[in-house]
Parts: sequence; C-alpha cells; structure tokens
Amino acid sequence: MESSGNKIVLGVTGSIAATKSVELLRLLRRAGHDVHVVMTPAAGHFVGEAAMAALSGHPVAAEQFDFDADASPGFTHIDLSDSDLLVIAPATANTIGKMAAGIADNLLLTAYLAMECPVVICPAMNQRMWNHPAVSDNVGRLVERGTILVPPERGGLACGEEGIGRLAEPRVILERIQDLLGESRERDLEGVRVLVSAGGTREPIDAVRFITNRSSGRMGVSVAEAAHARGALVTLVAANCSLPVSPGVNRVDVTTADELRQALETAFDDCDVLVMTAAVSDYKVSVEEATGKIRSNERKYLHLVQSADIVSALGSNSNGRMVVGFAAEYGEDGIGRARRKMREKNLDMMVFNDISRKDIGFETGSNEITILLPDDDDYFVSRTSKLECAHEILDKVTSRLT
Ligand SMILES: Cc1cc2nc3c(=O)[nH]c(=O)nc-3n(C[C@H](O)[C@H](O)[C@H](O)COP(=O)(O)O)c2cc1C
Repeated sequence: MESSGNKIVLGVTGSIAATKSVELLRLLRRAGHDVHVVMTPAAGHFVGEAAMAALSGHPVAAEQFDFDADASPGFTHIDLSDSDLLVIAPATANTIGKMAAGIADNLLLTAYLAMECPVVICPAMNQRMWNHPAVSDNVGRLVERGTILVPPERGGLACGEEGIGRLAEPRVILERIQDLLGESRERDLEGVRVLVSAGGTREPIDAVRFITNRSSGRMGVSVAEAAHARGALVTLVAANCSLPVSPGVNRVDVTTADELRQALETAFDDCDVLVMTAAVSDYKVSVEEATGKIRSNERKYLHLVQSADIVSALGSNSNGRMVVGFAAEYGEDGIGRARRKMREKNLDMMVFNDISRKDIGFETGSNEITILLPDDDDYFVSRTSKLECAHEILDKVTSRLT
C-alpha cells in the first residue's frame, strides 16, 4: 500500500543482521515513507553508511559530536524528534539495555530519549544472549513502557547455532510498522460480533474485604481493541478493570463472578465469538457471611462455595458460536492440563500461558502464549506485547470462522 509518507527514523545497531536493515530501508522507501537512518558507531562495522544514504536519500546520522556548524547546528537528536516512528532494526542487547536504563551515549540513544513517537525494537542476537535474564528484563521493561517488540525468530543464527534470535524478516517488520501507522490492518472481522471478558472478579468477604486475583484486564482489553481495529462489533465485560478502551467498544463493568456470568449470558446470544480472558474466582464466600464487617479481634472461619464455571457452561451451549478460553497454568505439564480443560469445557480454542514465569502474564504488558486448537498443532507465540498476542489469537479465530 502506498503510504502518505510518514517520517520514520531507522536505527541500526552493531549486529551482523544490520545487513538486513538495507532491505528494510528499501521496503520502507517503496511504501512511500521518508526514512532517516541513524547508525550506532558499532553498526558501521556491519553496513556501509554510503548504501544507507543512497537508499534513504538523506545523509546518515551516526556521530553525536561530529557536525558541521553550517550544515547542522548539532541538534540532530532534536531535529529527529518530530518523527512519526522510530524503528530500531536490528536492536542489539547492548542498545536494548541502554534504552531500558536511559543511557544516552550515542546519537541513536540520545534521539530515542528525545522522541515522543511510537518506538519499535527488532532484536537480533545469539539465542543465549536473547534468553539471558538481563536481556529478558530489559526487553520486559521497554515493552512495559509501551515499546513495540517485533520478536526475533527461531532459526539458524549467524554464529552457526540454532535457536531464537534471528532478526524478524524485513517484510514482517514492515507489516508491523504499517499496522502501527494504521495502514495495513485488514478489517477481516468486519461485522463479526465479538464478546470479550477481562479483568479479575472480586468476591466479598464482608462489606469491605474481598477475594480477588492479580489480573489487570490488559489481555482482554488488548483483544477487545484488536478486534475493534479489525472491524468487529465488540462488547467488553470488564471485571474491576481500570484500563480505558476505545469509545467504539461497548463496555459493561462488573464486580463479582455472578455479575460477570449474568452479563456474559445476556450478551452471549448476540455474539459470534466469545474470548474469555477474565480470571474468575473459583470460590466465593457464602452469602450470609459477606455482609457487615468482620471485627479485627474476631476469630472467623470462611465458608467458601464454588462459583459457576462460566466458560464451561457457555462452551457446552455454544450453538455454533466460537468460544475461546484462557488457561493460566502453573508448573509442569501446564499445556497438557490446558488441552484437557479445552476438551472438558467444549472450547474451540484455548490460550495457554505459564504463570510460573514472573516476566510475563499478570500485571505486565507482555505475554508469551501457546494457542491450542482441538485438531491442530500447538501454535507458540514468543514473548511480545499483549496487543500482538491478541492479533495472533484473532488470526486463528478468523481462519476458523465459516
Ligand atoms: C561479528 C559480531 C557480531 C555481533 N552480532 C551481534 C548481534 O547480532 N546482536 C547483539 O546484540 N550484539 C552483537 N554483537 C556485539 C555488539 O556489536 C556489541 O555489543 C556492540 O557494543 C553493540 O553496540 P551498539 O548497541 O551501540 O550498536 C556482535 C559483535 C560482533 C563482533
């Protein structure tokens, strides 16, 4: 698609994959964008400035202090701050770490701190570097702050090893950029009625206390936003979720598991797809006790009764509607348990995430999921933003809608 010509800064860092940034630059230019290349000093060992300058039509900015007072007053990092997007491809472990820490010891890093536009990082490195806790933490911190991650792919690495660490293909990075700039997202859910549950329920113990869980609602809100962007008519039933949603999403706020069940039962008849991300309390306190206020010196035994299994009830009465469940499992064979739950609850799809991992899932902006389908192989989505996970889930939904 020919674009309206956004100003994009392409940051290139010192990875062997920097040669692929030439292809990305070519694709961005062909898509009509005005691309300014900023290279770290290390990037110059892997790719030539001349090629980047010729292909972009602009001089390459590389040296923070090497400026000609006539041509440039030395504020390149500020000049770049009116850009529409910063994409760093490839992004080294070093640059990612410095971005996370706010270190600005080269032009690219200084420009990064001075920019207010969306930032995309496309890491590339050896798989042991990618799996190192320091790198995981740094990527997590950036994603948490809203940086968009185009995760590295699995495959043969330049060092001769095999694993996750290859720079994503330039065409994949381009698609993600066009998504962000609102240029490419196919409206493949136009008119489809998508019901999403999000957040965590609260079960009162007394008038002031309650039992709840750590779900922030971010995954459900991401599914709702992604479906809305793809043209779906979205209803979001949000349990104790403080996150905002787009005005076009029909939002129903609830507190308890019973309220969530009632709201979902009401909306279920009018939906084509239910995506059940809400974390529903399995137990509630028996009604007689959940009133008044327990005194602090009072010895109290709580009688817990089981809440209804909402997704199972809806999955068993789906009448052709697609029901997608979420299984947050802890410890060994989580995938096996998630797959069994999918069968027992009559679901069309189950999204598994491993909650024993501290860096993904609850209260974070990123997730790593495996999408399970009854008659297909497991589909693994390596750690990325929850919005990207939502699109991956919806890709599977659209491919199964008749
Ligand atoms: C041949 C070679 C290949 C390298 N490839 C990578 C890589 O793919 N990813 C990475 O994070 N670092 C890689 N490095 C290390 C970085 O170049 C080094 O950490 C450098 O300080 C990065 O600087 P920058 O982030 O400012 O560009 C490589 C180094 C060499 C010598």
